[in-house]
Amino acid sequence: MNEEIIKENDFIFLILDERRRWLTQAISGKTFHTHLGLIDFDDVIGKPFGTSVFSKPYDEQGYKFYVLKPYPSDFVRYMGRKTQIIYPKDAGLILMYSNIRPGSRIVEAGCGSGALTCILGTYVSPNGHVYSYDVREKSLKQATKNIQSAKLDDIVSISYGDIINDDISHENIDVVVLDMPTPWAAIKKVNKYLKLSGSVVSFSPTIEQAKKSTFSLQENGFLEINTFELLLRKMQIKKNATRPETRMVGHSGYITFGRKFLDKKNPYRGRIPEEPEYVSFEGMPLRGNKDEN
Ligand SMILES: C[S@@+](CC[C@H](N)C(=O)[O-])C[C@H]1O[C@@H](n2cnc3c(N)ncnc32)[C@H](O)[C@@H]1O
Repeated sequence: MNEEIIKENDFIFLILDERRRWLTQAISGKTFHTHLGLIDFDDVIGKPFGTSVFSKPYDEQGYKFYVLKPYPSDFVRYMGRKTQIIYPKDAGLILMYSNIRPGSRIVEAGCGSGALTCILGTYVSPNGHVYSYDVREKSLKQATKNIQSAKLDDIVSISYGDIINDDISHENIDVVVLDMPTPWAAIKKVNKYLKLSGSVVSFSPTIEQAKKSTFSLQENGFLEINTFELLLRKMQIKKNATRPETRMVGHSGYITFGRKFLDKKNPYRGRIPEEPEYVSFEGMPLRGNKDEN
């Protein structure tokens, strides 16, 4: 078997039960304190991810803790935060609908606590890059700390930058990700950074923001403009009581996407009298009365 061995300084996901679980770093000679005893990292280092360990002192405590490899969703839920961070469900949609993959080059604003930045960095590795900007010193500090902990320093650059007003020069960018209060105000500028066929993605808590972003994408000539809201229900599975769990996240945000393209005048249909052409809410060409659309 080809198990992955836990090395010194690796992050581990320690699980006691459904509610008690921690993301921590395995440091030789140190212990992790819980109300049910101490986890000695020397018991963990050198063992495979997926092992279990017992709390010390073994004869008084001796509780079993499971040790898993943390996934991006664990980093997001358990990492330090100074701002509202993105939910894993929304991050998943962003990755799939904007084709973020190894090698992608991404511009992001704002980085906030760096939760989404860590996910983007993980998915563009090993040869892509994330250029992430924010205007708040607190966010920049927290995001830098989280990026360093996730060992993504080579893949992610965190810098001060106002994506709306500063001239941050980039070209050949695959995806621009905007998680900030006024994404629509940045669309004209970030359009210049994007490759043809590349995407702008914006995440906004309110529908008013999603509408403004949609109209701005339309005005700037984007195609395939779509907004989604994703609801995720966890199931309670029991022998005779299987149903959705009582509590769920009712709302996190709306995610709006748009694709950059090169518009050309059609030389073949030019002789046909021009009908007025309008664009639908999704950015597709429509003919007829603008007021009907
Ligand atoms: C909701 S937080 C982003 C959370 C982040 N996606 C995460 O997962 O942790 C919004 C961030 O946008 C930043 N921001 C606001 N306006 C900005 C601008 N014009 N340029 C860059 N960042 C901006 C704020 O300072 C704040 O840190």
